[in-house]
Amino acid sequence: MEKVSDRLQRMAVSATLAMTQKSRELTAQGFDVINLSIGEPDFDTPAQVKEAAKKAIDDNFTHYPPVPGFDSLKEAIVNKFKRENGLTYEKNQVVVSAGAKHSIINVFLSILNEGDEVIIPAPYWVSYIEMVKLSEGTPVVVKCGIESDFKMTAEQLESAITDKTRAIIYSSPSNPTGSLYSKQELENLARVIEKHPNIIVLSDEIYEHINFSGKHEIIAQFDSIKDRVVVINGVSKGYAMTGWRIGYIAAPLWIAKAVTKLQGQFTSGACSIAQKASEAAINAGSDSCKEMTAVFKKLRDLVLEHLKGINGLKTNIPLGAFYVFPEVSSFFGKSYEHYKIENSSDLALYILETEKVATVGGDAFGSPECLRFSYATSEDKLIEAISRIKRALDKLT
Ligand SMILES: Cc1ncc(COP(=O)(O)O)c(C=O)c1O
Repeated sequence: MEKVSDRLQRMAVSATLAMTQKSRELTAQGFDVINLSIGEPDFDTPAQVKEAAKKAIDDNFTHYPPVPGFDSLKEAIVNKFKRENGLTYEKNQVVVSAGAKHSIINVFLSILNEGDEVIIPAPYWVSYIEMVKLSEGTPVVVKCGIESDFKMTAEQLESAITDKTRAIIYSSPSNPTGSLYSKQELENLARVIEKHPNIIVLSDEIYEHINFSGKHEIIAQFDSIKDRVVVINGVSKGYAMTGWRIGYIAAPLWIAKAVTKLQGQFTSGACSIAQKASEAAINAGSDSCKEMTAVFKKLRDLVLEHLKGINGLKTNIPLGAFYVFPEVSSFFGKSYEHYKIENSSDLALYILETEKVATVGGDAFGSPECLRFSYATSEDKLIEAISRIKRALDKLT
């Protein structure tokens, strides 16, 4: 009998990957599709990183690596935390995995029991909910609107905590909103968390280097809770290395040990060649990230400027990552030909089918009133895409 497990049946398909797939299909049929659904930099991996990978092959780094990662990569990561974030970790607190996505599921599987609650401020990154459910936890969504720049306040956090709360997860800079938590905002959250010793914080920093506003702030800087913070990071976004699949955690030792145990049964560690390439990327510092970030900032400004020409859209000012997440609820209830727009997924499908621009409905991010699009593409494509989106929206009555 062809029947997948109940666990898998309960799992939603990644909406961003589904939209990317749909746009690929239309492209294959010969349509000129502009894909703004994908979450990856439109840059190539830096040359010195590619060289390091070639050298790793020639030097025969082709055997099983240590399960939690090569010592030399863990050292590079420890040094990065010291140099860039002023945080001190021991090498045995670091575990390298096959991408930040993998790091996150490893942590949830290591700390959650059935029914444990995980607080997730919405808008959230698509995979958090499914990962919590897969780990038998219960997601507790805290809705954060555009008026608070889509961020969770200390008061909201406090009132979401119950005696079953085991963890909190958020990303800063955020996918999908580009919002950043300031030092003061993180401190306010830390003051709440320090009163609840059972709570683990998963702080997803994958967009750390794509920050338009200056210093990156991490909640692990507050000593009162540092031993309960798991920092999630990786090379995918900042170093244009999405395909290399390397992410990592810096965590309390007991969590690092648990994740290593898990990984020992599942993957035997991350790809040896990609680890050596990541070591070169991290040791080179963040200069290549800065060049890329300057380009993203220009594109962000361009997008915000062009979006002003579309009536009915409301957006925050993203301070990091490469997404805008405008509110589009003023188009709900409108229609064009057989298209009837009830929610943002309907809108995303309508824009894709009529004007061939792929975006992602906010439902998947816990904010059905918004639409996400990535501006990690060329200026020309962005200008064309926004004018197509405007044409589609103007047709709705
Ligand atoms: C917020 C967030 N966390 C984690 C990831 C996963 O990163 P990786 O490609 O390293 O698995 C992504 C990728 O889209 C993301 O947006």
